[in-house]
Amino acid sequence: MPASYETLLVERRNRVAIITINRPEKRNALNIKTREEGAAALDELRADEAIGVVVFTGAGDKAFIAGADIAEFAGRTALTQRDVMLARSLFNAIDDFPKPVIAMVNGYCLGGGCELALACDLRIASETASFGQPEINLGIIPGGGGTQRLTRLIGEGKAMELILTGDLIDAKTAYTLGLVNVVVPASDLEAKTMEIANRIADKSPVALRMAKEAVKIASRSNLDEGLRREVDLFALCFSSEDKDEGVTAFLEKRKPQFKGR
Ligand code: COA
Repeated sequence: MPASYETLLVERRNRVAIITINRPEKRNALNIKTREEGAAALDELRADEAIGVVVFTGAGDKAFIAGADIAEFAGRTALTQRDVMLARSLFNAIDDFPKPVIAMVNGYCLGGGCELALACDLRIASETASFGQPEINLGIIPGGGGTQRLTRLIGEGKAMELILTGDLIDAKTAYTLGLVNVVVPASDLEAKTMEIANRIADKSPVALRMAKEAVKIASRSNLDEGLRREVDLFALCFSSEDKDEGVTAFLEKRKPQFKGR
């Protein structure tokens, strides 16, 4: 029996699970409960062999996620804030998740919302989406990986500009910066995202896991170490039935049936 959540909706469509942050009246701002439930939903989906890809989105047509819940910042001490952030991070849970995670960005993607999207493997945006790290306007800085993941993705100059000005950019600009992979009209967002998610979910879960892990190593190690670990992960694929099936299916000119083993 799938778990139910207060601040999230979790829907399964074939091999794709969609996690919808469901606080539209607060523009899907991430409060402590949402973060805890997001991490719990990922735990549930990690263990579910029927699920190959996870999609994050926001409820309503205004926001993907408008950032951390600013109301929770009021009156909070530095030590409490540190404890909250060092407790299990939803952003890191997405980053470390062994299956591909896609952000389906349907509106404001700000602060912690942008950081959540950055922790995902792909970002697919509606033309109506906007992106930014506006923390500077609150007298704080990005704390969920924004200064690190954004910089690695779009380079120091543009990341610095977004973080120092707090300015928002539209989806097309985000696309030109490499912050999003695909931009589509709002009416096509779900169909396009599901088309990509289903296509990925058809691949070998073993190879997807190794591929995600290998690509992530690139921004966390030097080239020699990354190349060495790529060889190890490549070789590890040879221990899977999926590799035998993929190679045999190619040679037999048929579609492979991957089992995730
Ligand atoms: N934290 C807590 N509440 C938030 C929120 C956030 N990050 N973003 C929006 N909300 C709340 C508003 O306080 C408001 O609540 P209320 O109806 O109880 O007053 C509700 O969501 C709607 O927000 P509103 O500003 O009226 O909606 P909008 O569509 O005109 O503007 C935004 C949307 C996202 C541009 C605007 O809400 C905003 O700038 N939010 C803060 C973004 C931010 O700084 N994020 C980084 C946080 S570290």
